Amino acid sequence: MPNVIARLDDVSLSYGDRVILRNCSLDIVEGAITCIIGLSGAGKSTILRLLDGLRKPDAGHVYVRDHDVCHMPESALNEVRRRISLSFQFAALLDSLTVGANVSLPLREHTQLSDAEIRKIVLDALESVGLGHTFDSMPSELSGGMLKRAGFARAIVTRPELVLYDEPTTGLDPIVTHLITDTIVRLRQKLNGTAVVISHDLQSIYMMADYVAMLFEGAIIAYGTVDEIKRSINPIVQQFIQGSEVGPIPI
Ligand SMILES: Nc1ncnc2c1ncn2[C@@H]1O[C@H](COP(=O)(O)OP(=O)(O)OP(=O)(O)O)[C@@H](O)[C@H]1O
Ligand SMILES: [Mg+2]
Repeated sequence: MPNVIARLDDVSLSYGDRVILRNCSLDIVEGAITCIIGLSGAGKSTILRLLDGLRKPDAGHVYVRDHDVCHMPESALNEVRRRISLSFQFAALLDSLTVGANVSLPLREHTQLSDAEIRKIVLDALESVGLGHTFDSMPSELSGGMLKRAGFARAIVTRPELVLYDEPTTGLDPIVTHLITDTIVRLRQKLNGTAVVISHDLQSIYMMADYVAMLFEGAIIAYGTVDEIKRSINPIVQQFIQGSEVGPIPI
């Protein structure tokens, strides 16, 4: 049996009278890349916020390792967060700092490394996303896609055990999409790190996912390897991955 590093256990969550998650359960396997797919507004980003302890469910539990992150004092939660890294959908850099200084921030906050050591690790992280030359640039000098890659570098610079990526490749050209997808895979191989990736890019999901989970109407309706998902007989899954207008999904 594979180790489970994080788990949503029978989670329900509503915003006002809108139910987003309904008795939703999901295991995140350690050392694997789990991709969550689903319609826009289905609640995918909400799942990442639950895993990071940023949101509390109305019912159910969220575990990271053996910690119940919904019922923990903030100080203990921060300790867990140090080992997790959340890369938001729209990762913003601080305008007043250089790209290098932005990517250095988590290391300055969480480690006692020297300036020279930090510079080396940050350059390495920037190079892994093809941005080695931007260390001394200001964020305003970068394109939207470059900013996103810099946000990605900042998310991985501390080599976290569990990285939560919210749409890491949305809006990027195919070459950079490939570069980022490849970086997520390499990180997993090199560090045995675990990743949860939300993406609408099926090609990139098929390239990187060990497991795919489909969220629909508040619950995970399909879970399996890429091959299992592709072969799924669930008409909702098939309609979604084929991008068809015809099928059970209300449009
Ligand atoms: N703080 C909030 N208050 C009220 N409603 C919210 C809040 N955050 C999210 N929602 C709603 O909850 C639903 C799920 O949002 P979420 O961001 O998790 O979806 P998503 O699956 O990530 O969508 P997308 O693919 O468009 O990013 C959406 O309908 C959204 O409008
Ligand atoms: Mg989202």
